[in-house]
Amino acid sequence: MELEAFLRALPKAELHLHIEGSLEPEMMFALAQRNGVPLPWPSVEATRAAYAFTDLQSFLDLYYAGAAALIHEADFFDLAMAYFHRAAADGVVHAELFFDPQTHTARGVAYTTVLDGLERACRTAQADLGVSSRLILCFLRHLSEDDAFATLAEAEPHLSRIHGVGLDSSEQGHPPSKFARVFARCRELGLHVVAHAGEEGPPAYIWEALDLLKVERIDHGVRAAEDADLMARLAKEGTPLTVCPLSNVKLCVFKQLKDHNLAQLLRAGIKVTINSDDPAYFGGYVLQNYLETAQALQLSRDELVQIARNSLEASFVSDAERAPWLARLEAVAASA
Ligand code: ADE
Ligand code: ZN
Repeated sequence: MELEAFLRALPKAELHLHIEGSLEPEMMFALAQRNGVPLPWPSVEATRAAYAFTDLQSFLDLYYAGAAALIHEADFFDLAMAYFHRAAADGVVHAELFFDPQTHTARGVAYTTVLDGLERACRTAQADLGVSSRLILCFLRHLSEDDAFATLAEAEPHLSRIHGVGLDSSEQGHPPSKFARVFARCRELGLHVVAHAGEEGPPAYIWEALDLLKVERIDHGVRAAEDADLMARLAKEGTPLTVCPLSNVKLCVFKQLKDHNLAQLLRAGIKVTINSDDPAYFGGYVLQNYLETAQALQLSRDELVQIARNSLEASFVSDAERAPWLARLEAVAASA
């Protein structure tokens, strides 16, 4: 089977996807017009042309500006449905979507407006596309822990509607330790916990995420490669990394895809997965990430199957939900 068809046929879970980062410029403009929201760019073309990032912050500035177009429940529904259609076409069977409530509540959009729209899309995706999903609330780490606690208080009356919490936004200078108390509370509430760490931040932030936040997965984590003890621990404990190769190149974490350390992490026995992060900004959805990474790093078919298997195993679904996807994955692997 040709590589792209093979990668599409593999059942995959996407575990690192910011739903606000799937806002394509065309939809951004349509929503901004519908909602009477001004955007900092004159056209769709000018918006795309502005996507030349030098680091994480240069991206985040544009990402938050674009998110201002999202106001109503239907906007969040439309946004997530557009993502689910792309995911289904890429062979994604399950997606765990990050959302950033503080980006919206700070503009006067109610938490429940965001949640209602996303949740309706999750139900529709299951019914119409057969794609399963979960929602993970991310705290913005450039804001205070008090602000995170206030966001958790807003979420608490609707807690069963989210599956976990994460930590995103500007990493440097905002270590996981800043959020130790709020994560402890989230764990007490029975939520799954993940955090971005080691994207731009040092290996010490990955240690903190593991030891202080007690996360179940590390989002990105690529800077673990600088610390042999950390690599050994991640491998031994089977902690999944949700790696986003095209994102890392766009944000200058690696100069080019062939310099990416994903193969090194994988071959060290770490449970690596491939994800798209903010596909509307970084030039590719999950299949494109698999394809370009496979080619740039010359990953074998067995390694690609292992990465897709890792994504299913690292997802927060029950064994009963996972079993048919794993069976299909092994059948595709055997037939290739
Ligand atoms: N928010 C959206 N994408 C992000 C990323 N790659 N890192 C940190 N925060 C983000
Ligand atoms: Zn991310």
